[in-house]
Amino acid sequence: MRTTVGIIGAGPAGLLLARLLHVAGIDAVVLESRDRAYVERRQRAGILEQGTVDVLRAAGAGERMDRVGLRHDGIELRYARRRHRVDFPALTGGKSVLVYAQTEVCKDLIALQLEQGGPLLFEAEALAVEGAESDRPRVRFRHEGREDVLECDYVVGCDGFWGVARKAVPAGAARVFERTYPFGWLGVLADVPPSHDELVYARHDRGFALLSMRPPSVGRRHPSEEVASLPVESFVSRLYLQVPEGTDAEAWSDEQIWDELERRFETDDDWTLRRGPITRKSVTAMRSFVHEPMRHGRLFLAGDAAHIVPPTGAKGLNLAVGDVVTFARALTHQRETGSAELLDAYSETCLRRVWQAERFSYDMTVLLHRAPDATPFEDRLQLARLERLTSSRAAEADLAEAYTGFAFG
Ligand code: APR
Ligand code: PHB
Repeated sequence: MRTTVGIIGAGPAGLLLARLLHVAGIDAVVLESRDRAYVERRQRAGILEQGTVDVLRAAGAGERMDRVGLRHDGIELRYARRRHRVDFPALTGGKSVLVYAQTEVCKDLIALQLEQGGPLLFEAEALAVEGAESDRPRVRFRHEGREDVLECDYVVGCDGFWGVARKAVPAGAARVFERTYPFGWLGVLADVPPSHDELVYARHDRGFALLSMRPPSVGRRHPSEEVASLPVESFVSRLYLQVPEGTDAEAWSDEQIWDELERRFETDDDWTLRRGPITRKSVTAMRSFVHEPMRHGRLFLAGDAAHIVPPTGAKGLNLAVGDVVTFARALTHQRETGSAELLDAYSETCLRRVWQAERFSYDMTVLLHRAPDATPFEDRLQLARLERLTSSRAAEADLAEAYTGFAFG
């Protein structure tokens, strides 16, 4: 098999890249190790920055997102039984975010790719990237029980943190920056409308909690039909609890989860948490990770293959989008002008934005989680930071700007 761009991985990074290249008239092949049902069921964060929304729309992948996505103009910070709303448009000159699950973004992009795009092979596992330093890099892969080779002009590793692409970069040519956290998130999906119409980030002595939401499952509708957004009441609850590292999700009964959420979201007013049947339960580890550079020869890394942020602040998907937009632009520029200048700047361009998101995600994590060995001094500092954030417009604007997103490139 031969193609211009070999894409490893059909997460949001690989799928969007395939779409952007298709729109630009550049052929690509996507290899995904899992099956379609698995990719479409994977639950991940669901906050799209304005820039991400614009890119998906321009790529023709915004129909369902515009119909089902919910625009959010703020978040609530909750601590010491107090509630504080951060008003994004007022603090950023009009910016907001869209609540639309990553799973849904993937479903939309898969449907488009299968209808209009080039090959997208499920259950095709990349085994290795070879010849990254040559003009003809190759991906060795296994599909339907056979080993095969995909010959490319460029390979983009969009295969997530556990993928194989990064391994093709020799240790001497790379540097890794990493931080792990002694806690994780127990995430649940509950069949009950969200208890608040915006996201709630809670700092509590017992640990962090987050209230988010997911759209109800809705199919694609014919574009000519009237587009109306769905009310928040039709959404279901997505909730998270900080738990010790290595926690088994099944060790928590549904009742224990609701009781603990209730405690951590406690307020001085009459706010109440709505309970309902829990339909999904899982634990996510927390990590910060950056692999520099994001390019080696003709192998480019994008998304989680190159960097991980802890989920506080929901930057993972938005970073992946920034990377593939940068790559697609750079390759288009090279084909139109013959200049490799943007491709050569790929790693540097992406890393500037990556490190801003790393900083923000780390700050949000440290601000809101309680480390198992936190001292009383650190507890007081955390509260003082929250006081500062909720009483200074400058501090609040800093959070709002980062949350709603930094420009690509
Ligand atoms: N061969 C083919 N596919 C692979 C291989 C392999 N050897 N290894 C991994 N994959 C696939 C995975 O099955 C997955 O579908 O690569 C895909 C990587 O997708 P993601 O992990 O979703 O990563 P990315 O597309 O970079 O998206 C980043 O995902 O992890 C979240 O929060 C993160 O929102 C962020 C987003
Ligand atoms: C989610 O809805 O899954 C979510 C939202 C915001 C975050 C993290 C996760 O900061």
